[in-house]
Amino acid sequence: MPKQTVPNVTLNNGVQIPQLGFGVFQVPPEETQRIVEDALEAGYRHIDTAAAYGNEAAVGAAIAASGIPRADIFLTTKLRNGEQGTAREAFGHSRRELGVDYVDLYLIHWPVPSRNLFAEAWKAMEELHAGGEIRAIGVSNFLANHLDTLLQSADVVPAVNQFELHPTFQQPELAAKSRSLGIAVEAYSPLGQGADLDAAAVTSVADGHGVPPAQVVLAWHLAQSTIVIPKSANSGRMRDNLAAVDVVLTPEEIGGITALEAGARIGSDPAVAAHSQM
Ligand code: A2P
Repeated sequence: MPKQTVPNVTLNNGVQIPQLGFGVFQVPPEETQRIVEDALEAGYRHIDTAAAYGNEAAVGAAIAASGIPRADIFLTTKLRNGEQGTAREAFGHSRRELGVDYVDLYLIHWPVPSRNLFAEAWKAMEELHAGGEIRAIGVSNFLANHLDTLLQSADVVPAVNQFELHPTFQQPELAAKSRSLGIAVEAYSPLGQGADLDAAAVTSVADGHGVPPAQVVLAWHLAQSTIVIPKSANSGRMRDNLAAVDVVLTPEEIGGITALEAGARIGSDPAVAAHSQM
């Protein structure tokens, strides 16, 4: 079966990122290598991990075992909250865990405003980026006020803001603000960790197209230029999700899914999330 062609999004520094990637949040380290090998075999070429997930080494092992050229894989990892004061060392540790010479995208995982260290971390990341060890730098879980604070001292505008975004929790103002600054929006928990797949507005569209509900939700994200990183431990569902790139929704179908907004946050609130949480 031919592999799906995933479109690229061009980030604000010209780097291209596959719009549909594979996330490994909550994937246990002992299962991660097998799962990432399956994802690469299915055709994913964008893998999203984090130091805090504890599975970087397994991600790196899967990439090495796949035999796929490093340049053909877009690899994201994230700075652990407790290491914002030592970002350079933390990045070196992640790079060694992953077993790679460079990382494609490195994100500040959470702003942790109570520590007031993210602007300092950003300076270290700017230096690593200038040195060629990171192709693009960005943030995760940054709310509007965190972006404003960062931009007061930043020389490099973040390439990406990765935050919780799914039909029942869309954060439209944050997405619009990020985009207005030239920051690409990347959705984590794009399926609402599976919870948004049973909504009638999703299942009716899925039935109409003869596709699984997850493809409809992912196609809804893709239609809005959002980068998505669904995860699945199951190789059949991995392939289902990748095939979302071939699903084209009508404006009415997109509107019906957008109307599911319910303020249903699943993860932590970045305004208060403490560094001990990740
Ligand atoms: P599983 O790993 O058993 O496939 P999110 O990416 O929003 O965090 O969602 C991940 C959750 O959604 C996981 O529980 C995953 O379960 C489930 N999931 C992923 N893809 C699909 C799919 N195509 N159909 C149904 N459930 C899915």
